[in-house]
Amino acid sequence: MAYERKVIDISEVEKQLEICRSLRGRICEEGRQPLAMVDTYGCQQNEADSEKLRGYLAEMGCGFTQDEFEADIIVINTCAVREHAEMRVLGNVGALNHSKKNKPRQIIAVCGCMVQQQHMADKVKMSYPVVDLCFGPHELWRFPEHLKRYLDKHKRVFETSQQDGCVIEGMPLKRDGKVKAWLSIMYGCNNFCTYCVVPYVRGRERSRQPEDIIREARQLVEEGYKDITLLGQNVNSYGKDLGLDVDFADLIRMINDIPGDFLIRFMTSHPKDATEKLFKTMAECEKCAHQLHLPVQAGNNTILKRMNRSYTREKYLELVKLARSYMPDLVITTDIIVGFPDESDEQFEDTISLCEEVRYDGMFTFIYSKRVGTPAASMPDPYTRAQKQLHFDKLMDVSNRISGEKHKEYEGKTLRVLVDGTTGKDEYNLSSRTNGGRLVHLKGDESLVGQFVDVEITSSNNWALYGVVKTTP
Ligand code: 5AD
Ligand code: SF4
Repeated sequence: MAYERKVIDISEVEKQLEICRSLRGRICEEGRQPLAMVDTYGCQQNEADSEKLRGYLAEMGCGFTQDEFEADIIVINTCAVREHAEMRVLGNVGALNHSKKNKPRQIIAVCGCMVQQQHMADKVKMSYPVVDLCFGPHELWRFPEHLKRYLDKHKRVFETSQQDGCVIEGMPLKRDGKVKAWLSIMYGCNNFCTYCVVPYVRGRERSRQPEDIIREARQLVEEGYKDITLLGQNVNSYGKDLGLDVDFADLIRMINDIPGDFLIRFMTSHPKDATEKLFKTMAECEKCAHQLHLPVQAGNNTILKRMNRSYTREKYLELVKLARSYMPDLVITTDIIVGFPDESDEQFEDTISLCEEVRYDGMFTFIYSKRVGTPAASMPDPYTRAQKQLHFDKLMDVSNRISGEKHKEYEGKTLRVLVDGTTGKDEYNLSSRTNGGRLVHLKGDESLVGQFVDVEITSSNNWALYGVVKTTP
């Protein structure tokens, strides 16, 4: 598909920053600091987008709150991947009637993938008068301009028709934590899996220039971040649109060369583009975590074909074998959809047998959700929700059992983990992650947050590991 990679000139972003500064004192006019609340649904890409929204809001002089009754401006960053997330958003947006009644000048914005779909933008416009501003992911970088227009004219602003995405550098970012950071390396998706709405709402794949990514990674390391997750809908196709001689494996190697003690993770990898070069690079780069999120979606070839996934069950299993031959300790997780249109009991059993064969460390399982405008939405689907639920429950049981068994294998071992936060609980007050990304609860001093420590794993359950600190740095 012909697609022109559009890059926004940095001066355009500077204009948005100027607008931010001009809005200081206009979000609340009571001579105090305005408070903003940003609520995020969906994937890590959305989390990363929300950090940009917060960056702009901070430039406007806002502080932050989680309380909608206290907020002067509320931004809801939405997801469109499944109907359930959309229903939750609409329910929560509807409930904002109460906070706005209390605070009539409260500004309510809804942005992100859900409202990039015209039918959802129309629904918000017609049925949710509480919403003042609405914009899709391609308009996020112009949020200050849209907010100014709303404040100048006091007329609702709906900017959801822009179809093409671009690459934008220089937006301010207000990151969530001090230990782990998201780093977007590309945007959009070209794969058009038949169930998925993402390519329609996030546009075609476009990669950031390697030097911009390296600069951001270097800055993160200098700021003390220890765990950097490279983000993209399909990171394995990084660089294909750039016409440079740099692919995703090369990018990992370049980030690995940045001096410092930190971990590189990434997601998501499409199996059709995962290469031996990638696995070899992961094995050779000491900072690259031995963790691979490799969504399989289904274990039956007919279903995979109808999903337009471009690989077979056999090819996928070979890929897993190849990855494990380079990294025997590789932690592999996956996404699975049950109840894809017309998936029979026998076809579903192929998913179960694939999971038993791979033995995933963790699985994210979803019941198929019909998405307007996708090819799967018009495929015949004779199975009932109740039948799909049975499959889903069976898969969850398999997933939990395998995770539990794999977790048990950690018991008695000593591992290096990164302490990434506190839990607020007495017994295990710290949370940490293994190199492969498994959750480990620990007891220890809060000063360990942000540090790598050796821990002995003492117990486990289906969801997490528990350990004691052996050595501190
Ligand atoms: N229904 C259910 N799950 C979906 N996903 C994407 N689209 C749908 C859908 N229409 C799942 C896939 C993907 C994950 C992010 O969400 O498993 O990998
Ligand atoms: Fe959706 Fe498939 Fe693209 Fe993932 S690779 S975002 S599932 S279309």
